Amino acid sequence: MSNLLEIHNLSVTYGLNGWRVLAVRDLGLTLGEGEKLAIVGESGAGKSTIANTIMGLLGNGAEIQGEIYFKGSQVKQETVSELRGKEIVLIPQNVFNSINPVFSIGEQMEDLQNEANVAPEQRQGRILELLRRVRLPRPESIPDSFSHQLSGGMKQRVLLAMGLSQSPSLIIADEPTKGLDPIRRMGILNLLQQLVKQNRQSLMLITHDIKAAAFLCDTITLIYKGEMMERLPAAHLYENSMHPYSKALMAAAPERGLQVPSQINSEFNHSPVTGCSYAAYCQLFRNSCLEQRPALRQVAPGHWVRCDAVA
Ligand SMILES: Nc1ncnc2c1ncn2[C@@H]1O[C@H](COP(=O)(O)OP(=O)(O)OP(=O)(O)O)[C@@H](O)[C@H]1O
Ligand code: SF4
Ligand SMILES: [Mg+2]
Repeated sequence: MSNLLEIHNLSVTYGLNGWRVLAVRDLGLTLGEGEKLAIVGESGAGKSTIANTIMGLLGNGAEIQGEIYFKGSQVKQETVSELRGKEIVLIPQNVFNSINPVFSIGEQMEDLQNEANVAPEQRQGRILELLRRVRLPRPESIPDSFSHQLSGGMKQRVLLAMGLSQSPSLIIADEPTKGLDPIRRMGILNLLQQLVKQNRQSLMLITHDIKAAAFLCDTITLIYKGEMMERLPAAHLYENSMHPYSKALMAAAPERGLQVPSQINSEFNHSPVTGCSYAAYCQLFRNSCLEQRPALRQVAPGHWVRCDAVA
């Protein structure tokens, strides 16, 4: 599998009240053609920051270090707009703000067909075909609808249909199942699975829901405070994951938002500035964990772990 996307040594900081908030730390990632990769972590782990960096959507206050390559060419923040919406599509975390409330769905999709150079006489047919592909009920009624007339699940599907307008090679779906009931959640996961398979697209699924990640994806990357803690094939997640953070996430219930358990090592009032960033919460903590930041070590083919106690 050749790499569609490569991220090397990515660090992202935001400016906040005169301080720099480190949102992504020294991240390396690869995503193969046709691969489905999950980025999993609790709230504030830096998942959306990774997606927004790839898409060139970070505000001016953000500072980015590191390199991103797409199809072998380096992606620069100045030129990433050429890929956005065409080669790479982001289904954003907040679907409620992502569809323009002023224009009908049909008008917005028509504009996208125009950008995709679809001939005017073919646009209506193409719009209906896209709405059918995302399995919206009564697709012929959707073009005349406005955002406020759609449920959360329908908005997700409309955004997907919009995103598919230009046949992107990579779909990034940021929390596509958040707030949906279990039936609608499975509906969206099945749809994503079928769409990327049919079109041989790659998928980056960003989620709190480790079970959804294991169901849908080939590879799981677990992120804590912007750092990759473990990466492994999804098929090995339940039997072979090793990092204490991965185990804590698997033990947490997705319906509770997959929060990491409360701090258990009471000697810390905050995470240590040196050593392992997970130390305050770690069941395997020992004093040597504070001496240096653990390296990411390969423990098996495709399986990497950042923990000095287990890897
Ligand atoms: N514009 C911003 N300015 C300052 N800090 C920010 C900004 N955006 C995000 N952050 C901080 O960066 C960190 C990572 O945020 P991010 O939104 O990427 O996390 P996330 O994993 O997507 O969380 P969630 O699951 O809640 O969506 C958090 O500490 C967050 O508070
Ligand atoms: S290095 Fe230490 S604190 Fe960090 S995850 Fe491993 S055991 Fe826990
Ligand atoms: Mg987010």
